[in-house]
Amino acid sequence: MRKSIYLLSAATLALAAASTSAMAAGKMTLYCSAQEDWCQLMARGFEDASGIKVNMTRKSSGETFAQIKAEEANPKGDVWWGGTGDPHLQAAEEDLTQPYMSSMRSQLHPWAIAQAESAGNKTIGIYSGALGYGYNSDLLAANNLPVPACWKDLLKPEYKGHVQMANPNSSGTAYTTLATMVQLFGEDGGFDFMKGLHKNINQYTKSGSAPIKAAGRGENTIGIVFMHDAVKQGVAGFPVVTVAPCEGTGYEIGSMSIVKGARNLDEAKQFYDWALSTDAQNLALEVNAFQVPSNKGSNTSDKAPDMSTITLIDYDFKTYGSSATRKGLLQKWDEEVSVLPQ
Ligand code: G6P
Repeated sequence: MRKSIYLLSAATLALAAASTSAMAAGKMTLYCSAQEDWCQLMARGFEDASGIKVNMTRKSSGETFAQIKAEEANPKGDVWWGGTGDPHLQAAEEDLTQPYMSSMRSQLHPWAIAQAESAGNKTIGIYSGALGYGYNSDLLAANNLPVPACWKDLLKPEYKGHVQMANPNSSGTAYTTLATMVQLFGEDGGFDFMKGLHKNINQYTKSGSAPIKAAGRGENTIGIVFMHDAVKQGVAGFPVVTVAPCEGTGYEIGSMSIVKGARNLDEAKQFYDWALSTDAQNLALEVNAFQVPSNKGSNTSDKAPDMSTITLIDYDFKTYGSSATRKGLLQKWDEEVSVLPQ
C-alpha cells in the first residue's frame, strides 16, 4: 500500500514536472506564406530547436495580410513568416505589425535591412527571388507552340488557354507580376499587358506557385511564378524550363513581421531571431527552396537561379508596398482586367 502511494505520487510529480516544462517552453502561432513544405519544416525545426510548440497555418501573402487585418482588434497570429514583402510593408504602414530590433541584424545582407528600415523596423527581409515564368517543354512541343523568351511573348494568340497565374488579390507572386508590368511598361502599358495576358489565361489560382506545380503535373503549359519555384519543379524531375524574361523582371524581398498585439511575444521574438540564423535558413535547401537567403552566411545551391545573369528592374518597394498603391492597383485589376471576356 505504502509502495503504491509512493509510486502514485512519483508519477503525479513527474506529470506535473512535464506539464510545467511544456508551459515554460510555451507556444506560438505562425502565419506562413512560403511553400507549404518549407512552412512545415520551419515550424518543426523551431519546435526542435526551442521546445516551443508551433501552430502553423499556410496562406498566400495577400490572404494573410487580409487575415491579420481582419483580426486587428483581436490578434490571433504571433509571427508572419514568408511571402512577398509588399503586403508586409502594407501591414507595417497600417500598424498591424510591430517593430523589433533583432540581435541577428548584423549578419544580414543590406537589402534585408533596407526592407526593415523602410518600414520602421516592423518587417525584415528573409529571402529574395526574381519573378519569371516556366513552361512544360513536353506540352509546348505537343501543342506546336513557339518557345517563349520575353514577357510580351506571352501575349501571342497561340498561347490562348496555355498560361496560368495567380490572382493578385490573394497572391503576392501575382501582385509582384502586376507591379512589375506597371514598372516595366508604365501604368497604361502595364494594364494593357495584363489585359492582353488575360485573353490567354486558363485560370487565376489562389496560391502563387500553383501554376507551375500544375505545369509540372502536365495540367498547364506556362506558369508565371518566381523563377525559384519553376526551378524546383525541374529539380524534382518534371519537364519544366525556367525563363528569365528578356525585358528584365521584378523581384521579391520575402519578409517576416511580428503581429501587433501578439499574445506570445517572447516566443515570437525567439522564432524571429532563430529564423534569421544560418541554421534555420539552411533548412530551405532540404525542401529545394532556392531563394537567396538574407543571412550572409547561409548556404545557397548551385541549382538556384543565378541572380547575376537576370536583368532585374529597380523594383520600388516603397511605392508598390504602400497601402494606397497596392489597394489602387488591385482595384483597377479587379475592375478593368478580371472582368474582361476571354
Ligand atoms: C512561393 C515562393 C515564395 C513567395 C511565395 C508567395 O511560395 O516560393 O518565394 O514568397 O510564393 O506566395 P503567394 O502564394 O502569396 O504568391
